[in-house]
Amino acid sequence: MSIKHICVLGGSGFVGQQLIARLVKAGYMVRVLTRQRECHRDLLVLPTVEVIEADVYNPVALQMYLRGQDAVINLVGILNERRDNGQGFARAHVDLTRLVIDACRHCHILRLLHMSALHANARTGTSYYLRSKGEAEELLRAAPDLHITCFRPSVIFGPADRFFNNFALLLRLSPGVVPLACANTRFAPIYIGDVVSAFEQSLRNPHTYGQCYDLCGPQVYTLKQLLQYTARQLGIHRRIVALGKTPSWLLANLFQYMPLFRPITRDNFRSLQVDSICSQPFPAIFKIMPRSLEEIVPTYLGVANARQRNCHLQQRARREGSSLPP
Ligand SMILES: NC(=O)c1ccc[n+]([C@@H]2O[C@H](COP(=O)([O-])OP(=O)(O)OC[C@H]3O[C@@H](n4cnc5c(N)ncnc54)[C@H](OP(=O)(O)O)[C@@H]3O)[C@@H](O)[C@H]2O)c1
Repeated sequence: MSIKHICVLGGSGFVGQQLIARLVKAGYMVRVLTRQRECHRDLLVLPTVEVIEADVYNPVALQMYLRGQDAVINLVGILNERRDNGQGFARAHVDLTRLVIDACRHCHILRLLHMSALHANARTGTSYYLRSKGEAEELLRAAPDLHITCFRPSVIFGPADRFFNNFALLLRLSPGVVPLACANTRFAPIYIGDVVSAFEQSLRNPHTYGQCYDLCGPQVYTLKQLLQYTARQLGIHRRIVALGKTPSWLLANLFQYMPLFRPITRDNFRSLQVDSICSQPFPAIFKIMPRSLEEIVPTYLGVANARQRNCHLQQRARREGSSLPP
């Protein structure tokens, strides 16, 4: 079936904004459901985008707003929850996925794209984040009547990302020495432009139905190397001290209840016990040559781009208190 109207949940965030811009450019009509419409005026100015304030956990409201759509993209995800008991993750990742599947069936929408995370697994996931993402994947696998494609990226970088921009903030706030938790955990950061290309390409490709794709960038780095790289980009010198496991856990506990800036939480610490790297190359079905961070990061994090960076950080700070993605 042809796809023209797409409803996006979680479309106001870092990934959503880039994806929606791409979908608009490709000629799709996009409906974004958000909890706070007034916070996302930047989406309102895009042509062919309607932003609707909705309680996505209300099945009746969800069905009402999905009616008439040809496809749904669910990007909703949280990195932290208020209490460290898994309930916030379960609601945003598992309960909502169940509601989306039910609403798709109710509205006879077959096409569903879902954002998960690398190493999500309901049983072996090391954190509430990874286990709840894994439980959501199990719900998707149990819905073979729908045409579902799922994506599992490593950490995503690009302008307004939470990763390098928070690193930059951390480095600037630190006096001379930066204690770094889980410094040896490895990542294969993937460029946001490549992630949204994979979403866009899969939308109308039936060969991607029922598939789940791990998405990684071309190079692997430790967390310490990434922090050192960020410092070089900013042109500042800091001594980065890699903490062992116990001090890392203590630091995560210290930051757990900080109100605004949380470089690491307990659940982030648990996620960081596993390397965020792929065992396979980038999926060949997508005609994408993943970009390196050396190619992209200097365009938004370099010394010359300080003004743009501050603008992105201010926008993000207005939206939420933030922490590094696991
Ligand atoms: N960024 C990364 O490095 C990365 C890596 C791997 C996987 N992912 C996954 O990719 C997805 C998008 O990530 P992102 O970086 O764009 O995140 P983001 O900037 O925090 O945006 C998340 C979106 O989800 C919605 N949302 C947040 N909490 C919610 C809740 N409790 N209930 C309902 N909606 C909620 C928000 O929409 P409103 O505020 O408008 O309602 C927001 O637009 C997530 O599922 C994330 O787990 C991200």
